[in-house]
Amino acid sequence: MKRKDGMPKAKALRNMPAFVVGHRDTSIADRCGFHRCPPRPYSVLSLFSGCGGLDLGFHGGFEALGTTYARTNFHIVNALDNDQDCVDCYRLNIGPSERCDLSAVDVATLPPVDVLIGGFPCQDFSSSGTKLGTTTDRGKLYQVLVRYADYHRPRLIIGENVPLLRQLAGGKYLKEIIAAFGSIGYQVSIWRIVCQDHGLPQSRTRLFIVGTDVEYARPSAPRLERRRMFIDEAIVDLEEVTDETIPNQSQYFVADVATSGGGQGDHTNRRGAFAYTIRANARARIQFHYRLPRRLTVRECARLQGFPDSFVFQYSAMRNMKLIGNAVPPPIAHAVACHIQEVLNGTAVCDEQLELALV
Ligand SMILES: C[S@@+](CC[C@H](N)C(=O)[O-])C[C@H]1O[C@@H](n2cnc3c(N)ncnc32)[C@H](O)[C@@H]1O
Repeated sequence: MKRKDGMPKAKALRNMPAFVVGHRDTSIADRCGFHRCPPRPYSVLSLFSGCGGLDLGFHGGFEALGTTYARTNFHIVNALDNDQDCVDCYRLNIGPSERCDLSAVDVATLPPVDVLIGGFPCQDFSSSGTKLGTTTDRGKLYQVLVRYADYHRPRLIIGENVPLLRQLAGGKYLKEIIAAFGSIGYQVSIWRIVCQDHGLPQSRTRLFIVGTDVEYARPSAPRLERRRMFIDEAIVDLEEVTDETIPNQSQYFVADVATSGGGQGDHTNRRGAFAYTIRANARARIQFHYRLPRRLTVRECARLQGFPDSFVFQYSAMRNMKLIGNAVPPPIAHAVACHIQEVLNGTAVCDEQLELALV
């Protein structure tokens, strides 16, 4: 295959670092209290768990981007996903996880918990995806959360997805999701979190769809700390590292010429700015480094997503990027989890500004 300039096209690096130790087995995890058992924990079941970005935030006990995120009061009972890469990466870094096709699951076989979490697949709601919404089988997967809630009545449900879900088809799909929860006696709040306003060095906005049994008050959005970090602050120390002394830093796609990405990821980052959104379906279109003549490495992308360096990804660059790009940034998930914990404790301080009017 040739490049536009006639040169042979470089192939993606196929390094597959052999990791036997993931975050959970590191001294950093010990130091951050990862293994601390909360005295009276709230139980959590994780659906569509991916490699565990949302879950690491809910669990706590890690260091990322220069901050320590304390162990929370949540105990994740199980984490289910139908992708074996996700399951194995989760087991290496966090804890028990099982492969399960949730489209066919009998919810009666799942354990009852206090809190159900699940970032259901976003491809059909995303600006770079099909935009077919809930008309596809994949777009209907949110219904597993509804079926689980109807059967087990968890106190809270935390769904997560892309911001376009709110506007797509004039809000029709989000209305459908809210109505589905309403039909089983759950009220819904929508929180829109602009992650770069809260310390993530990357442009990324997320919607949290929070369902509460109508027996309880509807929780308002969290009051998140406002702070900014730019791309160079987050990854400057990696500039000279070309090997695996920092896990996954040797993995990157060999650079072609940077072109305008047209919103599809093939951009060159700028120093003193937020990185472009890290995407799952990156192939060789991962954004370029702000100074070096190459694309970002797997570790740099993981950093920009707020994963700790102790959280390792054991596959090829392509498969690792899928896990990383699909994830909820753990620091943002941790902030949401801490707020949920306070809601459950009855001590929450809320911020109406983050909360969106229901469509
Ligand atoms: C947006 S990702 C979730 C990312 C995760 N919340 C995180 O923070 O790392 C959606 C996940 O749903 C999984 N998935 C898609 N269809 C599924 C199905 N039918 N059953 C189980 N999991 C499925 C995908 O493998 C993917 O890991």
